[in-house]
Amino acid sequence: MPIRTNPNFKTIGRNDPCPCGSGKKYKHCHQAIHDKMLRYRRQGVEVPSVSLLKTQPQIEKIKESAVINIACLDEVAKKIEVGMSTEEINQIVHNTTTNMGGIPAPLNYEGFPKSVCTSINDEVCHGIPSPDIILKDGDIINVDCSTILDGYFSDSSRMFCIGNVSEENRKLVEVTKEAVQKGLEAVKPWGFLGDIGQAVNDYAKAHGYSVVEDIGGHGVGLEFHEDPFVSFVTKAGTGMLLVPGLMFTIEPMINMGGPEYTVDKDNGWVVRTKDHSMSAQWEIQLVVTNDGVEVISY
Ligand code: MF3
Ligand code: CO
Repeated sequence: MPIRTNPNFKTIGRNDPCPCGSGKKYKHCHQAIHDKMLRYRRQGVEVPSVSLLKTQPQIEKIKESAVINIACLDEVAKKIEVGMSTEEINQIVHNTTTNMGGIPAPLNYEGFPKSVCTSINDEVCHGIPSPDIILKDGDIINVDCSTILDGYFSDSSRMFCIGNVSEENRKLVEVTKEAVQKGLEAVKPWGFLGDIGQAVNDYAKAHGYSVVEDIGGHGVGLEFHEDPFVSFVTKAGTGMLLVPGLMFTIEPMINMGGPEYTVDKDNGWVVRTKDHSMSAQWEIQLVVTNDGVEVISY
């Protein structure tokens, strides 16, 4: 029986059970994908480790987590309004998550004190909910929700326009959503991670906006933050190979002014634009499939 080497250097026989757990023989399951990954790697392409590729049973579990994740944002969408505090948003997310059997991933994550991030106006990300922060007419706010169910992670965020938002700010919110859509359309099996960054960046720049560097998307599913880091300032045709089973987020932070940001010195979390211009972000979670892409959470 010929022995093949998969990209983790483990030897698997063609007739052995596939390591993905499908119960099928390796030769009828992941062998072709692994062989293709090996060929790319020999050409010097950055290829994900097999452990980053989600199996079908894992994807099913992560989707169950995403049901809660989506329900939280739907609940926020129903209730969010002028005069509400961001602590109330925190409670909506916390209660929806726990009532459905989940755990809010942000709570106590590296010391983060709340169950959701709420980032208003010039806040780029990691805003901390507080009873003292009250939503005002004209605010734009990102609500970033991350969920654990039975150890499986989902992560997505949406923008909300509070009351009468200026045309200028509303446009930032819309263009940022469209930029994520452009990124999603750039996801192709056996394409490159950089294709996504280029698509997002081109779209944002075409509207005169800037894209935050250093903070971006990430692999997700079995942990909160896995490889790869997903940058939105990359070039098409570069970066990690998009192998079916790779799961990650697209979550660009797009600023009306410059891309520079500061991190709050007092709490070490809240990221703001340096020039205090408005910032928007939407986040989706996806998995690369054999023939395209599937959105897991949004
Ligand atoms: N939800 C953020 C993301 O999209 C991460 C927030 S970390 C936290 O990756 F601790 F602030 F919650
Ligand atoms: Co994320």
